[in-house]
Amino acid sequence: MRKYDKRDFPVDNVRRYLEPGPIVLVSSAWRGKTNIMTIGWHMVMGFEPSLSGCYIWDQNHSFDMVRKSRECVINVPTVDLAAKVVGIGKSSGRDIDKFTEFGLTPVPGTRVGAPLIEECYASFECKLDDAKLIPTYSLFVFEVVKAHVAASPKYPRTLHYRGDGVFMLSGANTTKFRKLFKPQNL
Ligand SMILES: Cc1cc2nc3c(=O)[nH]c(=O)nc-3n(C[C@H](O)[C@H](O)[C@H](O)COP(=O)(O)O)c2cc1C
Repeated sequence: MRKYDKRDFPVDNVRRYLEPGPIVLVSSAWRGKTNIMTIGWHMVMGFEPSLSGCYIWDQNHSFDMVRKSRECVINVPTVDLAAKVVGIGKSSGRDIDKFTEFGLTPVPGTRVGAPLIEECYASFECKLDDAKLIPTYSLFVFEVVKAHVAASPKYPRTLHYRGDGVFMLSGANTTKFRKLFKPQNL
């Protein structure tokens, strides 16, 4: 399994990795225990500050771990981790230690207590910015306070969930339409 050597990355630019809507692995820590869950429902909500909204169903073990610690790490896995992404997304941290079970390596964060996942291409350390939408929509609004991204490849091969057991794998890129954009919208 590949381990990515990640470098510091500007937090106001994490949309380069989250805007395409990859499946992410959200890691958390609370009272000496760590956990990981799979998330498809997330969105960029701003770049200065760097905000990300994540839907965490209240029946998931991660829900209370993240709500109480007010922190998490959003990790971006690549296609080689697909089977683990599904396994992590169908098991509960109530029953197992997912780092051990799935053979993933926790790396201490610099700004949060939650661990980064070494085998993921990018890891974004987050603090809970706004808890108001949690009771109504299970929507956690995080601020990315520290970003770590692998130097290569430039475009990681990420997983995008279509539902019904179907993943779309990221593939070809084109700059053909770049000239049609307003510069401020690039
Ligand atoms: C492809 C995929 C996408 C998922 N997306 C989400 C999501 O956006 N939000 C969510 O709450 N659960 C989502 N899940 C389900 C959780 O990952 C799953 O319930 C997991 O077991 C929670 O782990 P925990 O109980 O240890 O927190 C997804 C699962 C898979 C396989």
